[in-house]
Amino acid sequence: MIPRTRFDLGWRDLLFGYRQIFTSGDRLALQREVERYWSPDDEWLACLSLRSGFDVTLAAYDFPPGSEVLMSCMNIGPMAEIVEDNGLTPVPIDLDMDTLSMRRDLLEKAITPKTVAIVHAHVLGARQQLDELRELCDKHGLILFEDCAQCYRADEWRGDPRSDVTMFSFGPLKTCSATMGGIVRYRDQEIHRKARAIQSQLPVQRRSEFYVRMVLFSELLFITQNLPYTIAINTARRLGLEEFVNTPVRNFNGPRDYQGRKLRKQPSYPLLAMMLHRWKTFDPVKVQQRLDAADAVLSTIPNLSRPGRAAEDHGYWLFPICTDDPVALRRELHRKGFDSTLGHKTFVVLEPPAGYQAFEAAAAKATKEKALYLPIHFRAPKKELVRLAEVIRDFDPKCAGVHESDEAMDRQAQRTNSEQHALVS
Ligand SMILES: Cc1ncc(COP(=O)(O)O)c(C=O)c1O
Repeated sequence: MIPRTRFDLGWRDLLFGYRQIFTSGDRLALQREVERYWSPDDEWLACLSLRSGFDVTLAAYDFPPGSEVLMSCMNIGPMAEIVEDNGLTPVPIDLDMDTLSMRRDLLEKAITPKTVAIVHAHVLGARQQLDELRELCDKHGLILFEDCAQCYRADEWRGDPRSDVTMFSFGPLKTCSATMGGIVRYRDQEIHRKARAIQSQLPVQRRSEFYVRMVLFSELLFITQNLPYTIAINTARRLGLEEFVNTPVRNFNGPRDYQGRKLRKQPSYPLLAMMLHRWKTFDPVKVQQRLDAADAVLSTIPNLSRPGRAAEDHGYWLFPICTDDPVALRRELHRKGFDSTLGHKTFVVLEPPAGYQAFEAAAAKATKEKALYLPIHFRAPKKELVRLAEVIRDFDPKCAGVHESDEAMDRQAQRTNSEQHALVS
């Protein structure tokens, strides 16, 4: 069974993490070292997670209560909750599902005198050009946040320098994961100073919490090896618990106020050391392997129906496809040895708050219902991926972009061939 995902960290990294729990050192000095290693520009703040950084940044901006923040509708729910917890209103903006950019017409419609910021998320691994958003923000005096959680490729790219705030995550499923952690850049040095000051008032993550994290990841790493995973997923399937497989992976899982308390912390010494270790030792071949994996599928079925199919700069962090019957296709893939995830659990579309129903993200919601996430990652063997593409093409030609007319022509050609063959013999 090819598992739905692979963690981008290994046993050696976990061993390093365990060792840091017992290593003493100057946490603040290490924090500066981490920030400087990431970028020599003195504009970054290392955080417990991207969400923690987003939270302190909103506090630093101190927008008037009730201000509106326009957000890409595809993002994790807690990002909108953080906006609300800071007394602001998150307004989801539907996406052009081919490019994964926020729709310009909806953005224009959504901007009111109460709007203070736009949060653009580069989702699924695709990176968008932000020229239009920058121009719109300049025109209306808005702050531009850039959420890079899903599009980091362990390269030199540090987001668009014109964004006011750029945020990266090193959470559980992220490229170059440190099991958690985030880093945020500020164009405005006064906001940077304020955010750092606010963060410095928070409690520091305890070493014991980091230890629990290491233990959880040791279990997850073990269970996602091929044999244990196949046993676990088959058992979960039989018990009807398949959808819960992703649950332990989520950072700060739990009720909303619990999540809030968990994320309002400073990064611990071991976490900072882990982030630095991951960046220093990351093997970029893994990202290339992921791109090659996507390529193996797309060169077999180039017209595959999928969100982001027209995105110019795609890193394929996740690989959902659109099919009319994701449950049936998933069953078929499972039978053929491929694990996959239904979109309705994984593909999060932010709901508009009361009074903002006009901003329901219809296109993203329609995609979510049809989405099936394929197991395309750096460990998936190319031969298997070609077989995966063939299974999809045979089971759902429409999803594979094989047009009815092409099929009809193929059938006609086959008939003609066999008629000619009959005449000759
Ligand atoms: C688009 C996006 N934004 C923010 C986050 C939150 O990152 P973190 O877990 O570091 O808070 C995630 C995590 O999955 C994400 O996918």
